[in-house]
Amino acid sequence: MKFFLDTADLDEIAEAASWGVLAGVTTNPSLYARIGGRLDDFENHIKRICEIVDGPVSAESVSMTRDEIVADGRRLAALAPNVVVKVPTMVEGLAATRELASEGIKVNMTLCFTVPQAIMAARSGAAFISPFIGRFDDISETGLDHLGDIIEAVGNYDFGHPVEIIAASVRSANHVAEAALMGADIATVPFKVLKKCVEHPLTDRGLDSFLADWEKVKNA
Ligand code: E4P
Repeated sequence: MKFFLDTADLDEIAEAASWGVLAGVTTNPSLYARIGGRLDDFENHIKRICEIVDGPVSAESVSMTRDEIVADGRRLAALAPNVVVKVPTMVEGLAATRELASEGIKVNMTLCFTVPQAIMAARSGAAFISPFIGRFDDISETGLDHLGDIIEAVGNYDFGHPVEIIAASVRSANHVAEAALMGADIATVPFKVLKKCVEHPLTDRGLDSFLADWEKVKNA
C-alpha cells in the first residue's frame, strides 16, 4: 500500500517526503481553508505541492455542473504533470470524469461511500476512487466494512484501465492497518496519523534500553 498525505500544508508535505514514504498528496477545499488559503493563490499552491511531491497530487473541482467541472479539470491538469483532478461522486461528476478521462486527464472520484458508487466511478473512467472511512464511523457505521466491500467489488471486474482504491477519511493507524490488510492500493492520511503509524511504545521502550546499555558499553 502506498501512503498519500491528506493535507495542503507545505511543511507537512516536505517533512513526510523527507521520510521517503510519501507517494502522493490529496487536498480538498476544507484542507486548503485550514491553512488559510486564498482563492487567488490556489493554483500556485497546487503547483508548489507538485514541486515537492514525486507522485499524484489531487486538486478538487468545486463546480457542480459537468461543463464547469471539465473546465476546472483541464485548468488544474495544466498546472503540473502530476495533478489529478478530484471530482465528487454524483451524476455531473460521472459525466465530467468520462470527458476528462477521454482526454487523458486522471480523475480521483471522491466522497465515495458505496459499492454502486465505486463501480460507476470506475466505469466512467476514474483512475482513483476514494472511499471515505471516518465519515461512516462519525454516523456510527463501520467505515472499514464499506471499504472492504468496495475493494472486493471493484476487484471483481476489469474496467479496461487501471483503477486504484484510496482509503480516505482516515482517522487512525488502525484504519491504515486494516486498509492494508484489505488490499487498499493507497491510504491518504493526515500528517498526525502518518506520524502515529511509525510509532509504538515497544519501539520506544526498546530504544531506551538499547541507549542505556550503550552507556554501559561506553563506560566499560
Ligand atoms: C480525501 O481525499 C479527503 O480529502 C479526506 O480524506 C476527507 O477526510 P475527512 O473526512 O477527515 O474530511
